[in-house]
Parts: sequence; C-alpha cells; structure tokens
Amino acid sequence: MRRNPYPEREVNEINWNVIKMLIPYLMEFKARIIFALLCLILTKVASVYLPFILKDVVDVLDKQQENKIFLVPFGLVAAYGLVRLSIVLFAEIRDTLFGRVTERAIRRIGLKVFRHLHALDLDFHLNRQTGGLSRDIDRGNSGVSFLMRFMIFNIIPTLLEIVMVIVILFVNYGIWFALITAASIISYILYSVKATNWRTGFIREANKADSSSNTRAIDSLLNYETVKYFTNEEYEANAYDKQLEQWEQAKAKNRLSLFALNGGQALIISVSMTAMLALAAYEVTHQNMTLGDFVLINAFMMQLFIPLNFLGFVYREIKGSLANIEHMFGLLLKTPKVSDDDNAEVLEVSRGVVSFNNVSFAYDKKRPILNNISFDINAGQKVAIVGESGSGKSTLVKLLFRFYDVNDGSITIDDHAIEKVTQHSLRRHIGIVPQDTVLFNDTLFENIKYGNTNASVAEVERAIQLAHLSDFIESLPEGYETKVGERGLKLSGGEKQRVAIARTILKKPPILVFDEATSSLDSHSEQAILNAIKTVAKGHTSMVIAHRLSTIVDSDNIIVMNKGEVVEMGNHHALIEKQSHYYNMWQLQQTQS
Ligand SMILES: Nc1ncnc2c1ncn2[C@@H]1O[C@H](COP(=O)(O)OP(=O)(O)OP(=O)(O)O)[C@@H](O)[C@H]1O
Ligand SMILES: [Mg+2]
Repeated sequence: MRRNPYPEREVNEINWNVIKMLIPYLMEFKARIIFALLCLILTKVASVYLPFILKDVVDVLDKQQENKIFLVPFGLVAAYGLVRLSIVLFAEIRDTLFGRVTERAIRRIGLKVFRHLHALDLDFHLNRQTGGLSRDIDRGNSGVSFLMRFMIFNIIPTLLEIVMVIVILFVNYGIWFALITAASIISYILYSVKATNWRTGFIREANKADSSSNTRAIDSLLNYETVKYFTNEEYEANAYDKQLEQWEQAKAKNRLSLFALNGGQALIISVSMTAMLALAAYEVTHQNMTLGDFVLINAFMMQLFIPLNFLGFVYREIKGSLANIEHMFGLLLKTPKVSDDDNAEVLEVSRGVVSFNNVSFAYDKKRPILNNISFDINAGQKVAIVGESGSGKSTLVKLLFRFYDVNDGSITIDDHAIEKVTQHSLRRHIGIVPQDTVLFNDTLFENIKYGNTNASVAEVERAIQLAHLSDFIESLPEGYETKVGERGLKLSGGEKQRVAIARTILKKPPILVFDEATSSLDSHSEQAILNAIKTVAKGHTSMVIAHRLSTIVDSDNIIVMNKGEVVEMGNHHALIEKQSHYYNMWQLQQTQS
C-alpha cells in the first residue's frame, strides 16, 4: 500500500492559502500583468457590446423593405466583424502576455521544490517513492499553470460579464428578463458547486490511483534485473494491473459523476433559455420589442451560458489544481530532520582530527545501532574499522557526514562539533569511496569530473591514472565518453569503485573515508588500488572500513566493532598479541586464503 504522506483536507473547502502562496510568484512581471488585465477588460467590453450591433443590424434589415439603403446595414455588419476580430485579438494578446508570467512562476516553483528535495534528509529519500513523487510534482506544475490562466482570465471576467449583462437587461427590458437571468445563473452556479464538491472525492481517488500505479511501474523497472533473476514478470504485471484496475474504477466513477454534472447543467441552461426566449417572443408579438431585441437577448444568453458552462469545468479543474498544488507545496512544508544551526559556522579544517565521543545512535528508537562509541583519528593517521556485517561501520560514516544526527554524544572535527558547522562546509572536507557507488547515467568523464566540477581535462586524466582506470578506459571504443548506464549499472563493481576513487582524488578533501573501497577487486587490482589510495591518503586523515584484514595491517590504529560497540582498539601487533576478537578474525581469514 502506498503511504499517503499528506493529511487529507476537508474535501469541500478551497484552500485559499495555496493561492496566497502563489501570489509572490506572480509579482515578477507587474507590467505584463497590468497589460494583460487591460486586454481582458477590452475583450469583455467588446463582447458585451457585440449583441447591440447585431440588434441594430436586424432592426435595420427589418425596416429595409421601406427604405432601400444598402450602406447602413453593410456598415453595421462590417463593424460587427471588426468587433468580433478585436475580441479574439485582445484575448490572444492577453494569453501571450500572461504565458510568460505563468512559465516563470512554474520555473521558480520547480526550482524551489527541487532544491528543497535536496535539502531534505536521507531518511526522506530512503522512504520516498520516486514514481509517485515525480507524478505529484508534474501534477502540481500543471495545476499552477491551469490555476493562473483560469482564475484570472476566466472566473473573474465571467462573473464581471454576468453582472454587466444583468444590469443591461434590467435597464433596457425591465425586471423580468433580469430576474430570469439572475435566477438561472444562481441555480446554475449552486448546482455546479454542489455537484463538483461531491465529485472531488472521486478525482482524488483517481489521482491517488494514478500515483500508486506509477510508483509501482517505476519501482518494478528499476528492479529489472531482479525481476528477471526470479522470472517474476507475471507477478509484476499482475501487481501493476491491480493498481491500474483501481485507477480504471476510480476513473469510471469520475466519468459517471461528470455525466451527472454536465446533464444537470444542460437542463438548467435549456430551461432558462426557453423561458427567456418565450418571454421575448411574447413581447415581440405584442409589439413591445423589435426583432432586433429578440436577437439581442438570444445573443446575450448564448454569450453568458457558454462561459458559464466553461465555468463549471473550470471550477472543477481549479479545485483539482488547488489540491495538486497543495500536494506539491506540501513537499515544501516538510522540514528536514537534519538542518544547519541558526549561527552555524563554516568549518575550516587545519589538522583534520576526527573524534567520536560517546556516540549512541538508532535509526529507529526501538532498535539501537551504535552504543557509546568513542575513538579519535589523529591528524594524518590511517585508522581502520573492522567488525562483522551489520555492526554499524557504515553507520559511523553516515553520522560523520551528518546524514543523521546522533542521539547522544558528539562527533568533532578539529574540536568543532559537526552539528555546529554548516552541512555544506562539513561535507566539502570529507571524501568518500562508498560501499555501493551509484553513478549518473552520463559519460565516464562527467561522472569522474563530478568530484570537482571545475576540474580541467588534464586533472581528470590524472585522477583516472591514479585510480588505475586508464587501462580500462583505453579498452573502451568510446574511451571516457562511454555512457555508464542507469545508476552506472553498465560498469563492473570494481570499475565503479575506481570511478569513486577518481572522484575523490579530484575532490582533494583533507579527510578521507573508504568504505570497503577494494571489496570488489581481485587481489592484483586491489594491491594497485591500495597503493593508489596510499598515495592519495598520504598526509590525510583517513578512515578505512575493511573486511579483508590484510588490507589494513599497516593502519595506525584498528577499531574492532561488534554489535554497535567498540570491543578492541590498537595496532595490528597489539591486537594479535591480545588473542581476542581481532586475533580470531585474523586466524579465520588466514586459513581461508
Ligand atoms: N536507513 C536505515 N534505517 C534503518 N536501519 C538501518 C538503516 N541503515 C542501516 N540500518 C541498520 O543498521 C545496522 C548497521 O548497518 P551498517 O550499514 O552500519 O552496517 P555495516 O557494519 O556497515 O555492515 P556491512 O559490513 O555489511 O556493510 C544494520 O543492521 C542495518 O540493518
Ligand atoms: Mg557497511
């Protein structure tokens, strides 16, 4: 089941806050907005004026039998054409002017959401569902676009037009015409609002089903290989189809309710049209009105009900858009669990001493992972961390990078507590060759250059050499312009690790972390890489996590972990002499190799 991270709002209320949040994004192009509004007013005035010309044409033609002047009706028809043209033109100009405003707002909001997603903590990203998330953002963006266009250019002007027409009808034809129009419009709006609110639930259901089916599809495709290994194509297809079925059902309900909405609206329009025209016909036959008046009233009604009909659709879509935008803005309201202190300083590393002081940590309160860990890595030292799988070694690294805050104790670099410095400056000073390297779906060159986006080609090439990637790259037909595939899956594990090493060489941080950096290499390459690492790490503080103890024999200090605790500490000889945990691990590996 897809976890819904957003609380459901009361279905029937419009969230005005969303509109308030949007306003600042509109303010960038004030002049454009003013011109667009001016065009809008011109359009509306012209379109209210249009039926009057039509009335004059009809009246003149009606009297045509008596005086055969051709020029007057012709002039009027020409004027009619011109006014029509100007309505369309002003509307087009308005859309062109305003388009820019909308697109800029979408750009700003898109960037803001993107930045915010990167500002959120690792935990959020480990829990997120990529497919659903991207769908939510897509829908939010189109929501913004729709809202901007229709709120300003449809709802408000239509209401304005309605008022103008009712006043004109009242002044020219008396209370009855005005009353019928007002009554039909009010019942139309009331019905539309009621029916639309009733439908909103179905729309949300359809959206939710849409997001979950997308989540399912993306997750399945990301696991392509796993699906094949276990020949679970059918299982995946069925799971996806189940989601699609829910979507289909939600859509069906959606459509049926739309039918009810449209049907009701059509009924109201027809009844009131008929009433108005019957009244007008009556007045014409009793010579209280001219034929032109009849045409004028018909034209007014058409003119009112077409946008009104649209208004029903727009109201529904606006509500949908608001819900979608709210969803997207909901992401912006999420606060990262790890954030910079208000007066966080920029970390300067002079020596590079790393200390863990009585650190305790749990991802989930109910399951402690690290318990009271203390150790120091002195400037320029190489310290190894060993211990069985799941004992919390990689967790130490995540804490050092401050992906999570410790529950107890502190981590310091050169006596600066890491939670008191900016995350940016902290991470800039630490380089890592992670346990699982994930690459961008780009060229090898770009992936390596990612370690320092300002690096020159020569620098990248030197890093390639130091990381022992040259032979591999020369063997590729396209050299370092080769694309590495989604998440770098077209490279072998060892190649990816060497890319990670090259990146770190480019980054040149004072503190280095190697998390199983050579685990995917054969003994020969391992030795070469170890030498490379040694060169890179010279004079740097480094923390090396390793399973193969032979790779860390030369460490200044070896920290042995077991079940989240430090059980032994010392250099290789000291630990061997102790004949305890480390000694046992060492013996076991000696007999294996
Ligand atoms: N994001 C997370 N949320 C919850 N638990 C986690 C998370 N990441 C890791 N763990 C748990 O924390 C424990 C320690 O994990 P960690 O990755 O630090 O182990 P490790 O010592 O690096 O193991 P290995 O040698 O296999 O890499 C594991 O039991 C793991 O299940
Ligand atoms: Mg690990």
